[in-house]
Amino acid sequence: MDFVNSLEHARKLDDSDPLKHFRNKFHHPVIKGKKVIYYAGNSLGLMPKSSKAALDIELDDWAALAVEGHFEATNPWYNYHQLLSPLMAEIIGAKESEVVCMNSLTTNLHLLFVSFYRPDQQRFKIISESRMFPSDRYMLETQVKFHGFDPDEAIIEVEPREGEFLIREDDILEVIEQNRNELALVFFGGVNYFTGQWFDLQKLTTAAHNAGALAGFDLAHAAGNMPMQLHDWDIDFAAWCSYKYLNSGAGNVAGVFIHEKHAENTDLPRFGGWWGHDKERRFLMENHFQPMKGAEGWQLSNAPILGMAVKKASLEIFAEAGMPALRKKSIKLTAYLEFIFRDIFEQLKKAGVANTKLKIISPTDPHSRGCQLSLKLIGADKSLFDSIVEKGIIADFREPDVIRMAPVPLYNSFEDIYRTGVILKALLS
Ligand SMILES: Cc1ncc(COP(=O)(O)O)c(C=O)c1O
Repeated sequence: MDFVNSLEHARKLDDSDPLKHFRNKFHHPVIKGKKVIYYAGNSLGLMPKSSKAALDIELDDWAALAVEGHFEATNPWYNYHQLLSPLMAEIIGAKESEVVCMNSLTTNLHLLFVSFYRPDQQRFKIISESRMFPSDRYMLETQVKFHGFDPDEAIIEVEPREGEFLIREDDILEVIEQNRNELALVFFGGVNYFTGQWFDLQKLTTAAHNAGALAGFDLAHAAGNMPMQLHDWDIDFAAWCSYKYLNSGAGNVAGVFIHEKHAENTDLPRFGGWWGHDKERRFLMENHFQPMKGAEGWQLSNAPILGMAVKKASLEIFAEAGMPALRKKSIKLTAYLEFIFRDIFEQLKKAGVANTKLKIISPTDPHSRGCQLSLKLIGADKSLFDSIVEKGIIADFREPDVIRMAPVPLYNSFEDIYRTGVILKALLS
């Protein structure tokens, strides 16, 4: 792409952006009186303006109808979660019956492991990436221990090679092959939270299956960021949260995918609750759990309507924009951010600045990343990040030394990126 580091060029890119009107569908934060440039959508997405009205519908129905709202509300609460499933299924490339929105991410991973990590003395190993998000790592560790195995023996982490930041796909495939006889599960973050590296989920799934194991993914950093075809890729299970790229608000209700080949099997072991019980018989108040077919059969509790209303409003924006168009813009937006960084580093070097203090560690190939760029501090400390925030750029810092920035196609502009370059250059000069 032929980019130029100028305001005029950035504005031209914005003018020709077919998704530019979506920016105005979000509230843009004003912090300490200053409208900020927001790159933390990989942590907490911006608030859609439509979410308040969506919430008001449910609050008004609650006020007016109370318990009758389960069947008489504008969107009857009894089956409310079903309104989210087709919207969510479209975003992740799944059949509607393979998706359900429920609980939160780590909770869902534990529930999915009940069904999909059932180790025995022969097959008990899990292959994952090193530098997993800590909650995922704690989940793995405690699951392994719960089943009576030693995490040091059972969890195999594939690491980047010496001096590298990214994990080579060939190395993952080799580790799968080396452990094929003892392998129970391949479990990766679809997009790694630290480096922004996107893994070829289909390839990993095929390799896991060839080794006689299952494949599951944490898609916290992939859902709403990467176009996916979870059903066609034959992925066994996945879970994600809704507050990052899915813009549904802090801690809001999460989602799971269970491939229909498993989801239709009501004999598959799981932990049960009444909302996963045969829908026709739910209110007969009988003993003996009979799960529904489909991902809904993993639900435990009745749906949290207030959170779901906000999530629904956000997913409707995705339905309007469409993942292919979002991805197209995302590739261009992130490429522009990368271009601006490199242009500034070049300018600084030419001006005699020996250490530009930041190094991009995310993949340079757009097919191996989503929107996020991770910048490692070189010979600088966290105070550089603090200065960036002070100047009105909201990014985030991950210990020990990485700044993450994620330009989000729904609400970031090319002008945001140009302005980021101006601020950064002044700070690094
Ligand atoms: C990759 C990943 N996994 C797990 C979690 C934990 O999510 P939750 O607190 O919703 O369970 C996060 C949160 O940011 C995450 O980024």
